[in-house]
Amino acid sequence: MTILLLGSGGREHAFAWKMLQSPLCEKLFVAPGNAGTAAIATNVAISPTDFDALKLFVLENQVDMVVVGPEDPLVKGIFDYFQKDPQLSSIPVIGPSQLGAQLEGSKEFAKEFLMRHAIPTAAYDSFTAETVESGCAFLETLQPPYVLKADGLAAGKGVLIIQDLDEAKQELRNMLVHQKFGAASAKVVIEEFLDGIELSCFVLTDGKSYKILPTAKDYKRIGEGDTGLNTGGMGAVSPVPYVDAVLMEKIETRIVKPTIDGFQKDGIPYKGFVFIGLINVNNEPIVIEYNVRMGDPETEVVIPRLKTDLVELFLAVADQRLNEIELEIDSRSAATVMVVSGGYPEDFEKGKVISGLENVTDSIVFHAGTKLEQDQVVTNGGRVLAITSYGIDFESATKKSYQNIDQLHFDKMYFRKDIGNDLK
Ligand code: AMP
Ligand code: GLY
Repeated sequence: MTILLLGSGGREHAFAWKMLQSPLCEKLFVAPGNAGTAAIATNVAISPTDFDALKLFVLENQVDMVVVGPEDPLVKGIFDYFQKDPQLSSIPVIGPSQLGAQLEGSKEFAKEFLMRHAIPTAAYDSFTAETVESGCAFLETLQPPYVLKADGLAAGKGVLIIQDLDEAKQELRNMLVHQKFGAASAKVVIEEFLDGIELSCFVLTDGKSYKILPTAKDYKRIGEGDTGLNTGGMGAVSPVPYVDAVLMEKIETRIVKPTIDGFQKDGIPYKGFVFIGLINVNNEPIVIEYNVRMGDPETEVVIPRLKTDLVELFLAVADQRLNEIELEIDSRSAATVMVVSGGYPEDFEKGKVISGLENVTDSIVFHAGTKLEQDQVVTNGGRVLAITSYGIDFESATKKSYQNIDQLHFDKMYFRKDIGNDLK
């Protein structure tokens, strides 16, 4: 079959790498892709949110399935666009409906879903510019630190955690009245702070049944020891060593199952990934967020551990027969270390020539912000490469990634040297 994958990050390179291992995948297009996907598939210069251009491409190239990497096209309704179009409705889109994508597109929608289905989450209330003073009064009833979340998509920057009450009130005003995050902060969710260790749970669902994928932990801050600004993620390991069977059972019965049942009860069409962000507070898992896609860089450790044919899984999702499939998982650990442009997540330069890629042995290089320029691979984003390795444990896996990063070079290259250290 012919598959079109949307996106251009390390996540998409990992999906492409895995789907191409399937005998079912005869032709793979990636829109827009990067230098890594260009080497193994065919890149197409179409934006994942240009639905009309995607339609033309799909029809012209007889695409049999569309796999969506990032959240943007999902929140903008690509699933519904295909369903409603008679020429496209028979072509499965792997990803939730626009309604389902609201779980990521609106924090308030997600909180209401969690409350309605009695899934454990932090106490909260939400406010608009009209109710900003009640928001300030609500902050006074809480203990610091204060958690303020812009309702809409804010490129991962919409969550503020603030120690000082006056500063929290000021930031609330900045978000609601001065539109600090534009329309995304026209509404703000104020949430109880949860003190515990974060982990992510990834689920693939056909809307009725589900499969839980391996756990992963990512490292969000730019600096070692989890300091400095938040990023998309600087590395990841899978599995998360402290997640034992007892905790996993709690996550499944209290969170995963009620989430999938919730889709059915609410009539939310959902055929895709659910990424559940959790905080483990004294061994009680509590949801802090839903994303409606896989994580990046978590995909670069979760997908390499999946032995099951990914295209077969996607077909089962489309036909709602996921319950017939048994997942096979590699027992080894996987770790990935992100190599980024100096300056990221603030300003950085692009177009730096990347050298040494041919010297990498025993690791998989997933490209993120790269492109080809006159046959040379150059940097084209903040997060540039994800170096993934297997090992008997996460320590040997990270060690291999670091050895291979030593072979790589580009001007102002940066990476965290402590991925996995907190788990030792
Ligand atoms: P989110 O976009 O909701 O995942 O929030 C971004 C980050 O803020 C999370 O990865 C957590 O580190 C942190 N966070 C979000 N909500 C809470 C909370 N209620 N308590 C503590 N930390 C939180
Ligand atoms: N690594 C976190 C995310 O993909 O949102």
